[in-house]
Amino acid sequence: MATEEQPARKAKASADGREAGAPGAARRSLPPVERVESPEVKRRIFMRWVMWGSAFLFFAQSAAASLAMFWPRKVVGFGTKMDVGPVSAFPVNSVTKFAQGKFWLSRTPQGAIALYWRCTHLGCTVPWREDEQLFHCPCHGSIYERNGQNIAGPAPRPLDYMTVEVVNGHLVVNTGEIHERAVALPQHMTPV
Ligand code: FES
Repeated sequence: MATEEQPARKAKASADGREAGAPGAARRSLPPVERVESPEVKRRIFMRWVMWGSAFLFFAQSAAASLAMFWPRKVVGFGTKMDVGPVSAFPVNSVTKFAQGKFWLSRTPQGAIALYWRCTHLGCTVPWREDEQLFHCPCHGSIYERNGQNIAGPAPRPLDYMTVEVVNGHLVVNTGEIHERAVALPQHMTPV
């Protein structure tokens, strides 16, 4: 009788997967492991993310600053070449202020001239007076014509001028090239 029951039990155990040596038998018999993290562990993980995030931001900012340093920039202003626009924008007898470049662009019948606005007496900024059609220094009263020639006051010489070129129909003023002169001459004008 016992010998007949043994194969029957064995067959049932094998069907349930509980037979010794059956693959996966041990795994199926264990309950699933639930991973529970303590608040302390969660805090550590959070702090680790914050630390790595901060480090990433720091290096990203440093890299961006380094790249910006080497990136070619369009520099405009005093000391550089300035494209002030097409010749047609400056009618004859117009005087136009360019504060960034510290000059007046004066268009005369002979051509264009960029006059450095620094008074040749003691260096005050010389304004163009539309009502007088002259440059008139507010400090000690020196007066200059639209070509920069000094005609009154203590100024010892005309206003200095900057190199002007015509490039593709545009006037380009080199504010890094300033010329002194004893007298204003037509050759100081750039034909346009
Ligand atoms: S600084 Fe212009 S007149 Fe003296």
